Amino acid sequence: MTWNRAIAALVLALAAVPWLTAQDLPEKNPFEGDPVAIQAGMGGFRQRCADCHGTDAHGVRGPDITQIWASGRTDAGLFRTIRTGIPETEMPAFIAPRTSDREIWQMLAYLRTLAAPAPTDPPRGNAENGERIFRASCIGCHRVGGVGGRLGPNLSRIGASRSVEAMKIRIRRGAEDFRPGFAPVTITPASGPPIQGVKKNEDLFSVQIMDTRERIQGYEKDKVKSVVDVTRSAMPLFGPDRLSESDLDDVVRYLQTLRGFDPAVRQ
Ligand code: HEC
Ligand code: HEC
Repeated sequence: MTWNRAIAALVLALAAVPWLTAQDLPEKNPFEGDPVAIQAGMGGFRQRCADCHGTDAHGVRGPDITQIWASGRTDAGLFRTIRTGIPETEMPAFIAPRTSDREIWQMLAYLRTLAAPAPTDPPRGNAENGERIFRASCIGCHRVGGVGGRLGPNLSRIGASRSVEAMKIRIRRGAEDFRPGFAPVTITPASGPPIQGVKKNEDLFSVQIMDTRERIQGYEKDKVKSVVDVTRSAMPLFGPDRLSESDLDDVVRYLQTLRGFDPAVRQ
């Protein structure tokens, strides 16, 4: 038998061993309701997930994940989401052996205890009015489903990727941390007025930006007067004077409905 064949035979033999195949993942969490596992899962969750999902899993930068079962997800499906992450989003993969199967099940057992029944209050806001406001005030910079501007991030999936709180804070008050590719920058060329935009790429010698008219421009650093990272987002703040409380609720309600995922329309 050649080595290739021997290896092929070995792979086949291993694949036949049930505990090594993906299908063998239990459909139901083997630790559900187990108090010791829940306690361990709480520790694991706080250490690995809370930065993005919040200590109570109601979402900070990442989404609220207390309602995931209510939205029809299964234990095995959630296990896979955590194991492999969600490609092209900030949700990382938690790979073995750093995170064992047992740890993932424990964290899910903990999350299960937070799974409140669906809220009795109807969700606030009117998505239809929110969409109208979005088309009037936001679409110039944000794409949804292939339509809109490119200065800001594509929001086609924002409802699945951010908590309501995170969205409200961003719209009202802006943020200090910017998604890669959207950090605001001001370039003062050797002659002429400063140019504002968002930074797409930078190395020691050059910087590439998208200016506020969506033109991609490259600059050599030693040929310009200055390249300054500014702290104010390219997105204007929408204070209560520009967007009332109820309009804010409406826009956020609309954004919550955006859960599409088409990698082709993400930039
Ligand atoms: C660096 C930030 C970050 C960390 C750390 C993180 N997540 Fe996430 N997670 C996200 C984001 C952002 C999403 C939404 C991605 C998307 O769909 O656009 C997400 C999505 C999810 C989803 C899918 C929700 C759904 O509706 O399908 C689950 C479940 C989840 N995370 C669980 C976890 C668990 C458990 C951990 C810790 C082991 C964790 N996450 C750690 C950012 C993070
Ligand atoms: C002049 C362009 C511009 C307009 C108009 C604009 N935005 Fe933005 N927006 C941006 C940019 C650039 C960013 C990324 C930098 C940042 O996060 O501050 C952003 C970020 C965001 C984010 C955060 C995305 C994330 O991944 O967390 C949300 C939510 C958002 N905008 C919603 C809105 C809404 C709602 C409106 C209308 C009421 C709006 N934007 C109008 C440029 C704009």
